[in-house]
Amino acid sequence: MTQKTKNKPKGKKMPPIAKVSDQNELVPSKKYPFASWPFENFNPVQSRVFDYYNEDVNTLIAARTSAGKTVVAEMFLAQEIRKRGGKGMFLAPLRALAQEKIDQWTDLKYHFKDLKISICTGDYRLTKDRAAELAEADMIIMTSEMLNHRSRNFKSEQNNWLLDVGTLVIDESHLLTVPGRGDHLEVGLMKFTEINPKSRIVLLSATMPNVDQIAEWVSYSLTKKQTYVLNSQYRPVPLNIHYEIYDDSPRRYDQVEASKVEKAHEIIEDWYPDDKFLVFAHTKRTGELMKSTLRANGIKAEFHNADLDKDQRVTLERNFRTDPKFRVIIATPTLAWGLNLPARRVIVLGVHRGIQEVETYNVTQMVGRSGRLGIDPAGDAYVLIPESQEEAWRKKLQKPQLIESQLLEKDGEHNKILAFHLVSEIHHGYIQTNDDVQKWYERSLAYFQDKNLHEYVVEKTLDLLKDKGALKFEDDIWKVTSVGMIASMFYFSPFDVADLRNNFWRLFTKGNQDHDYHLAMALANTDTNRSNIVSRAEKEEMSLFSNRVRTLTGAEYTYPDSVIKAGYCYFNLLSGNNSANFAAVQRNYQFDYPRVSQVLLALDSMAGKWEQSGFLRTLEDRIRNGVPAHLVNLCQLPNIGKVRAKKLYDYGIKNVNEFADVSEEKLRKLLNLKEDIVKEMLKEANQLSLTTA
Ligand SMILES: Nc1ncnc2c1ncn2[C@@H]1O[C@H](COP(=O)(O)OP(=O)(O)OP(=O)(O)O)[C@@H](O)[C@H]1O
Ligand SMILES: [Mg+2]
Repeated sequence: MTQKTKNKPKGKKMPPIAKVSDQNELVPSKKYPFASWPFENFNPVQSRVFDYYNEDVNTLIAARTSAGKTVVAEMFLAQEIRKRGGKGMFLAPLRALAQEKIDQWTDLKYHFKDLKISICTGDYRLTKDRAAELAEADMIIMTSEMLNHRSRNFKSEQNNWLLDVGTLVIDESHLLTVPGRGDHLEVGLMKFTEINPKSRIVLLSATMPNVDQIAEWVSYSLTKKQTYVLNSQYRPVPLNIHYEIYDDSPRRYDQVEASKVEKAHEIIEDWYPDDKFLVFAHTKRTGELMKSTLRANGIKAEFHNADLDKDQRVTLERNFRTDPKFRVIIATPTLAWGLNLPARRVIVLGVHRGIQEVETYNVTQMVGRSGRLGIDPAGDAYVLIPESQEEAWRKKLQKPQLIESQLLEKDGEHNKILAFHLVSEIHHGYIQTNDDVQKWYERSLAYFQDKNLHEYVVEKTLDLLKDKGALKFEDDIWKVTSVGMIASMFYFSPFDVADLRNNFWRLFTKGNQDHDYHLAMALANTDTNRSNIVSRAEKEEMSLFSNRVRTLTGAEYTYPDSVIKAGYCYFNLLSGNNSANFAAVQRNYQFDYPRVSQVLLALDSMAGKWEQSGFLRTLEDRIRNGVPAHLVNLCQLPNIGKVRAKKLYDYGIKNVNEFADVSEEKLRKLLNLKEDIVKEMLKEANQLSLTTA
């Protein structure tokens, strides 16, 4: 891959980029006037930053895992708040890490204890109190999605506090290249620096091979400020990376997973029986297998995953540090991003997640957890790679992925990421004329990296959005339609919103809403689902369904298999059917449904005027519970899901009203539940039947 950067805005002078290297004459940390740390000397990375943290510059630091980049962030932020009098802003890649950071920085023993630090994550609604708190804060911690959200709503929410930010730090800034997330960071940075061109920008990452190019983009397209680039190889604890092969000759997926687990077990039990390990599993299932294998062999191991709440995680981490018998933590990869839980040795369980390849930046983060500072002489990481592709993987892992814009990535035929951002800019009034469009895309990383983002792509996307009814162009001004507005408000692909509008319009006009085949296909037939991949086994399983759909729709439409697959999943959810082959995909549709439902309700009230909100709410209940229409009424009751609803129905109790009339004892026997639980359910049933009477 080449690093082309020929798309520099014409006729403008490039601000200087200064490349600097480690400072091996270490600076005592007490020379820094705006904060204090418990260690005596800054390390070589921090000592270099000491030269310029006071200047009005941007900086990009590409330094290895555990090189002390957080202290670099603190050097800039403390100077910003205590000397320049501005606000500091810190972006973390995950909500959990943002929370960890605020816990650490507001600790009464920490040097930031006197600062007003606020967090802004996850909660999209900004109450008056929250807005006032953000305006007051010395420092704001948020995720990159929030930066984008608050910046694009700058006008409507009157987020003037964004103008007070003097230094913006982006931790783990290789997030720019993560599919599904990077585009929000890219566009968020474009928006923020447009609103507030004065802020210094600090990008930190352990895995940014093309840091020079990213620095040029930041300094040139975003801020017009001089930028320092520090590309360092310093690591306080040496890290040895070992590539170990596993047998990938078995044909079945679970046999291959078992072979990885066996290899890891061998390393833990036979090679280093006295050391502690962190083992990264790319799927929960493999993680569970790893845990049970180790436990069956008498090794104390725990699984650190998203199902644990915060207290459980903290306890687990503490026990791992203090209990000598507790040897292995198995973790999911997201926890490798900045997780402060190093271990003597790390194992990465292969380089595939399902059939997908794991990105090299994720491997870097995982191996980076090995070696405890001040305790271990070195960290050792074992990356398991498939025997049949050993050489290819060795090569690949030694050459980390470049940071590349995700703005033009597509998984179907359209540029739906670009489309979403264009619609959103137009909705918020930042883009009106074609001239605005041009100015907007010229500031993007995609354009800077010359990823074929030129007028033509943008024009084509805008035209398509117009054709699909998400945008209109009147008097030389771009405007959103209700479809576009809904896409922008609910962070949805505008093409999908347009498809849902058409599908449901047809469904209601033809009076087909009570036919689950039609209903399932109305939900399924969207742009995004057209890029689903269908395996042969899946095709076989859904053949009956697909024949039925073809008969029903006749010659009018032919749905591709990709859409049939989504339809089959929705149909199963609407019928209460289980399918082993589709269970995981079905769960994803179910999990994502509240967002779809929001969009449908908004379409009903803002665009279609179908007056079907009651129907749509019931539909949401059905999909949430995975039940056919006749069981959804009973599912309103606490403790009643698919199975119990069916039991009651088969017994002749068909709805909440009828439930309210049954004796407590009978219900207890029928449902096999404790007395107080049944009492509670009856109380609820009485209340519900009163309100619906
Ligand atoms: N100069 C220093 N002397 C001693 N310890 C330090 C120094 N600077 C940082 N540390 C400690 O080193 C550890 C790792 O630092 P930090 O988490 O900032 O690394 P990082 O560069 O952000 O790594 P990652 O890429 O893994 O997030 C922390 O526990 C921190 O307190
Ligand atoms: Mg870090």
